[in-house]
Amino acid sequence: MKVLIATDKPFASEAVNSIRDIIENAGFELVLLEKYTEKKQLLDAVANVDAAIIRSDIFDKEVLDAAGNMKIVVRAGAGFDNIDLDAATANNICVMNTPGQNANAVAELAFGLAVYAVRNLYNGTSGTELYGKKLGIHAYGNVGRNVARIAKGFGMKIYAYDPFLSVEAVAKEGIIAVGSPEELYSACQVVSLHIPATAETKNSINYKLLSKMPKNALLINTARKEIINEPEIAKLMEDRKDFKYVTDILPGNHAEMSDKFAGRYFSTPKKMGAQTSEANVNAGIAAANQIVDFIKNGNERFRVNK
Ligand code: 3PG
Repeated sequence: MKVLIATDKPFASEAVNSIRDIIENAGFELVLLEKYTEKKQLLDAVANVDAAIIRSDIFDKEVLDAAGNMKIVVRAGAGFDNIDLDAATANNICVMNTPGQNANAVAELAFGLAVYAVRNLYNGTSGTELYGKKLGIHAYGNVGRNVARIAKGFGMKIYAYDPFLSVEAVAKEGIIAVGSPEELYSACQVVSLHIPATAETKNSINYKLLSKMPKNALLINTARKEIINEPEIAKLMEDRKDFKYVTDILPGNHAEMSDKFAGRYFSTPKKMGAQTSEANVNAGIAAANQIVDFIKNGNERFRVNK
């Protein structure tokens, strides 16, 4: 059994070593493809392996069709929008994620970005504080819960909206639950995004919704590029000089945004929310264990395709 790690953005070496131990102790062989620059390298690498651990690496139909022996692909992380689930199912490949394993890392980065934003990108001018501000957590999953935990330490007033949880379920956790995105954005000066990229959420963070935010608004995106309506956020920031946007996912209109909104817009060059040694180890170990348990025992917990 050959298990491929295919990571354009490599794991920390501790994570690779931990994965190797688990794979080799199970009697399997580890194959490593890191920092590949062409799709051809990925197509060659998947051709001859039984399982793969990936991150945001694109596993589209072409890649999955080329993976003749592949039985399982585990996305070491939360979002699996980079994998064509229908093509995986058609090729009889099980797809899993490792929910929660990198959630704290992403939540910590959300606050790193938030402080950077409210202190005017550390440019020496007088900024503002997070203490006492209303924070809206858009989707209360694993990352959202970690954001709420950290926000308590900052002394923020915490609101949340989650389309899949009842107001009662969220309210039980000691935060203010609201019943719609409109309510969340109207109430909160700071909003942190934690929704996945799906057909429903694509472009859903738009002018109309963002314009509901109170004065001196801050939007933090550690979720996905696709959820933002990029032309509309640019328009909004033109109309509202009090609006700040910080993101961990490079927007398509980054050049325009940097140019027009210097001092109140920032993007990391490469998504780094989950890029910590701890998150890599947690997600990598979980992925390796899930592969071994699937191959040896048929355990399909965490399967995300049909
Ligand atoms: C996730 O969905 O788990 C995060 O976006 C992290 O993605 P990454 O593994 O590509 O850093």
